[in-house]
Amino acid sequence: MPFPVYRPRRLRESPLMRSMVRETSLRIDDFVYPLFAVHGRGVREPISSMPGQYRLSIDELLKECKDAASMGIPAVLLFGLPRDKDPRGTEAYAEDGIIQQAVRAVKDTIPDLLVITDVCLCEYTSHGHCGVVEDGMVKNDPSLELIARTAVSHAEAGADMVAPSDMMDGRVGAIREALDEASLVETPIMAYSAKYASCFYGPFREAAQSTPQFGDRRSYQMDPANGLEAMREIALDVEEGADIILVKPAMPYLDIIQRARQEFNLPIAAYQVSGEYSMIVAAARNGWLDLDGAMVESLTSIKRAGADLIITYFAKTMAKRLS
Ligand code: PBG
Repeated sequence: MPFPVYRPRRLRESPLMRSMVRETSLRIDDFVYPLFAVHGRGVREPISSMPGQYRLSIDELLKECKDAASMGIPAVLLFGLPRDKDPRGTEAYAEDGIIQQAVRAVKDTIPDLLVITDVCLCEYTSHGHCGVVEDGMVKNDPSLELIARTAVSHAEAGADMVAPSDMMDGRVGAIREALDEASLVETPIMAYSAKYASCFYGPFREAAQSTPQFGDRRSYQMDPANGLEAMREIALDVEEGADIILVKPAMPYLDIIQRARQEFNLPIAAYQVSGEYSMIVAAARNGWLDLDGAMVESLTSIKRAGADLIITYFAKTMAKRLS
């Protein structure tokens, strides 16, 4: 049906017509809201590289969680900043670690909000790497035990789901086995399966004070040039027992989200990371981009590519807009 018989503009004429034929729409329950927990009381420390985001002590974190839940946001993703860092990231799996305390507090106060925890060592290690360092190298197998211990301690504190982001080989299987041994068979794993070694994590590393003290993360996170490898990574995580697979970052990797959607039948999450957020906010602050427009368009593109869940620092702003 070529022009003039078919005129695509007919269905674009009015807002009502457009909304009737719209293929993708965002809903509040698509979103997961990431938050940063710190020790102390009354702490609400702005993160300079991520305007509108804060490091929160547990009392302040609870306010933020109540707010999020009342807006209909289904889940938060918690990151923790420890009191002290050491080579083995001890606080990551300590019973009274910052995340363990935060999870207990949120589940006690707001039982209806799902609490997902980021499982990684990089915020807790003095060297800032996501695993154990020996001879100047990040060692895979010795890291698995600590990562699995971290996941179990989060689940024991009451986390509804654990989300390993370290990219060590075999960690999903190690976590599943450890959870099952601890009778935590019901706790799902959201695996950061295709996590790229991306410069877009820059603002987060300031927020979480997790910049590697030597080298970079390219020996464990994926090369941004690889797509087939992402499918292999996801397949491994699925075999090892992942319940949700995650692609990260989101907007520079829409092709990966789409391929994952075509090849796998598990729910797919995508993480609109700190750099994606800060880039939009910074451009808007300079008057170069419309904040609302860029936020909605970026999130819509991620959903259109095939994401079922979107982790985004815009979750609250989006929830306000959608209500
Ligand atoms: C921890 C972790 C990182 C992010 C999520 N979990 C940082 C990293 O891998 O360096 C990034 C999140 C963001 O940029 O918003 N490994």
